[in-house]
Amino acid sequence: MAIQIKDLDQLKVMRRAGLLVGQTLALLRENIKAGMTTDALDAIASANIKRGGGTSNFLGYHGYPKTICVSINDEIVHGIPGPRIINEGDIVSIDCGAIIDGWHGDAAFSIGIGNVASADQKLMDVCEESMWVGIAAGKNGGRLSDIGYAIEQYINSQGKYGILQEYGGHGIGTEMHQEPHVLNFGKAGNGPEIIPGMALAIEPMITRGTAKTKVLADDWTVVSTDQSRGAHFENSFVICPDGKPFVLTAIDGGKSELARFGVEISDLLA
Ligand code: MF3
Ligand code: CO
Repeated sequence: MAIQIKDLDQLKVMRRAGLLVGQTLALLRENIKAGMTTDALDAIASANIKRGGGTSNFLGYHGYPKTICVSINDEIVHGIPGPRIINEGDIVSIDCGAIIDGWHGDAAFSIGIGNVASADQKLMDVCEESMWVGIAAGKNGGRLSDIGYAIEQYINSQGKYGILQEYGGHGIGTEMHQEPHVLNFGKAGNGPEIIPGMALAIEPMITRGTAKTKVLADDWTVVSTDQSRGAHFENSFVICPDGKPFVLTAIDGGKSELARFGVEISDLLA
């Protein structure tokens, strides 16, 4: 399968899906607190996606039973919501997606609950910044691997972190997961050319220890093999027909974050 190239009308629908995902994550960020269950977060997300006219792309995906993924501490991604209680000092990663009129959005963030260890906060900050570094590196006319190169270089400049190798970003459009796979590491200057209409979900996953992971007996939850804590941030972005990027899952389209890198966003989807 070739990389799906979207035209402006299709991107306008993708923006609606992405914005609903971004708004749902913002709502979860506002509501998450110690003492609540991960299922309560799932219910908030499910109701908000419905309210916004979307459907969940996670629910039923290869049998996945919930609307969001909630991954706590040494769980890095794909934790399944349930009766587990969120505690003070936990670091929680929430991944959410939605479909509107057949077009997908996908994004994630990590957050500390109450007072968290400074090394945990740094882990999350490094992961989040590496996502923005990666998006800023995804330039029209560049190469796909420029993104992973920039992500890895940034993370390694900040300390010793495990960068997951078995999981990465992906193309997104009329399916949640499309070609190309986007590595969070590697050499620059390789892979397909980045061109207008390409939409990519950029999602670095890092730990304070090993990059090695295993999947728990629930068949989903990805944990670090050394029990080190992990973080995960994700946004879906596109190169617009004018050659400028737009972050579909960011409420401001990525304007403020990308400005820090001297990258101007497109106004075609505003
Ligand atoms: N949203 C995840 C990703 O970023 C995939 C979640 S798998 C699911 O690629 F089954 F939970 F949907
Ligand atoms: Co994704």
